[in-house]
Amino acid sequence: MNDKLFEGELVRLTAANSEKDAEHFARWGQDSEFLRLMDTEIALPQSVKEAKDAIVKWMETERPDGIGFVMRARADDKPLGFIGLNGIRWNHGDAFVGIGMGEREYWGKGYGTDAMRVILRYAFTELNLHRVSLSVFEYNPRARRSYEKCDFRVEGRDRQVLHRDGKRYDVIFMGILGEEWRVTGDK
Ligand SMILES: CC(C)(COP(=O)(O)OP(=O)(O)OC[C@H]1O[C@@H](n2cnc3c(N)ncnc32)[C@H](O)[C@@H]1OP(=O)(O)O)[C@@H](O)C(=O)NCCC(=O)NCCS
Repeated sequence: MNDKLFEGELVRLTAANSEKDAEHFARWGQDSEFLRLMDTEIALPQSVKEAKDAIVKWMETERPDGIGFVMRARADDKPLGFIGLNGIRWNHGDAFVGIGMGEREYWGKGYGTDAMRVILRYAFTELNLHRVSLSVFEYNPRARRSYEKCDFRVEGRDRQVLHRDGKRYDVIFMGILGEEWRVTGDK
């Protein structure tokens, strides 16, 4: 029995606190590179009030088809970003995962990969999902490599669907099955 379901080596996943975390979410949303890595939407900053409302909606009203967490550094509890399962189709045992580490100085240091491993364990051992899917932009090799380290496989792509700074890029679809996740042991 795992008594540390929300704990990784570097991060822990917690509920968001709309009062305390909104300021961090709004600050991350001022970072246009972060926005462009996360979303196909037009990059647009959020006020603290908008971030607060979005957190409440994310945490409360999107359930049961979505489950979101804030990832915090285990060392000092600092909020680093968010991670969540959305579009859960309980009848099929399938969900999408999204991850965004807003604190840039933590990029490339294993925190995001650690958070992804925690949520995959949660998806496969607590929610008993069959598969988890995600999409990643062609211009985000760091994210793609992080997902490969978690054993996601490329399953397809929308060719040239993105238009950024005069160039076209693919959206890559990746997925992992519970049985593939289990092969590499109890993570
Ligand atoms: C994507 C994200 C979750 C990855 O988490 P992370 O903790 O930074 O990732 P890690 O440090 O574990 O691994 C990154 C890997 O990418 C590699 N990498 C970094 N930049 C790279 C590049 N330009 N090309 C190829 N590989 C690259 C690193 O070397 C590392 O691989 P390694 O461990 O084999 O050396 C995190 O960086 C993040 O949230 N970034 C901002 C928002 C974002 O991109 N979200 C994802 C949207 S799909």
